[in-house]
Amino acid sequence: MIGVEKARMHLQQLGLTQAAEVLDARLEAASKGQVPYADFLADLLSIEAAARRERYLVTRTRLAHFPFRRTLEEFDFSFQPSIDERQVKELATLSFVAEAANVILLGPPGVGKTHIAVGLGLKAIEQGHGVYFIRAETLVENLRRAMNEHTFERRLRVYVTPKVLIIDEFGMWPYDRLAATALFSLVSARYERGSIILTSNKGFGEWGEVLGDPVIATAILDRLLHHSHVMNIRGESYRLREKKRAGLFNLPGSHGEVKPPQ
Ligand SMILES: Nc1ncnc2c1ncn2[C@@H]1O[C@H](COP(=O)(O)OP(=O)(O)O)[C@@H](O)[C@H]1O
Ligand SMILES: [Mg+2]
Repeated sequence: MIGVEKARMHLQQLGLTQAAEVLDARLEAASKGQVPYADFLADLLSIEAAARRERYLVTRTRLAHFPFRRTLEEFDFSFQPSIDERQVKELATLSFVAEAANVILLGPPGVGKTHIAVGLGLKAIEQGHGVYFIRAETLVENLRRAMNEHTFERRLRVYVTPKVLIIDEFGMWPYDRLAATALFSLVSARYERGSIILTSNKGFGEWGEVLGDPVIATAILDRLLHHSHVMNIRGESYRLREKKRAGLFNLPGSHGEVKPPQ
């Protein structure tokens, strides 16, 4: 077996599949350019390392269950002046994750709450943290089912393990007592251990009503807000702006009636 074949075999056996694949091409380039041995090796290993990182990011992103893939770089801050861009940039450094602090994004529909939550989630994945995204309704439903099936502890662990748990659209519908208790268990279990990013269109004052019990609501808020960054987003829906641009809506002041498509 000649040297290059042996090298390829060893690379494959070691699981360095990308390096094995590009070996011939990189060898040829190296011999043509009289590249020093060390540079050739560094080049080959950097290709393997880049491929591995890419695979890691793809897998972690898939496991996070994001509803869409939007980055913070894609967020247009000029459209939403009530968002403090500096605060988002500060959150993007992920010191809140290191501190196991929470991020609460409040505001009406379409202002970019989920976008920012996903953008922060993607940053966390890039830094090697486990992230899990779930809609509040699904979370509550799953916890409720687990309670009935006596698998609550195991289910709870699924939502406690990721360093960052994104709970989207909290309080869209009212929850019953069982759901409120389950949420309390989750927030308590994560308290000072892992971050929650929560989005909601309900202000804190409405949580008692949403959870059907002001005492549980206070207990949840107490833990959630102790170490937290709250962003109150006010403004227009980005979704509707795009519709307005397309002429499907009249401009504000004209009661926002929907125009029939031209
Ligand atoms: N300021 C913005 N810049 C760019 N895209 C935005 C902005 N705000 C919202 N969007 C986009 O509009 C859509 C609705 O935003 P989303 O985050 O789902 O709103 P919310 O969760 O507050 O209802 C998404 O596709 C999102 O990427
Ligand atoms: Mg949303």
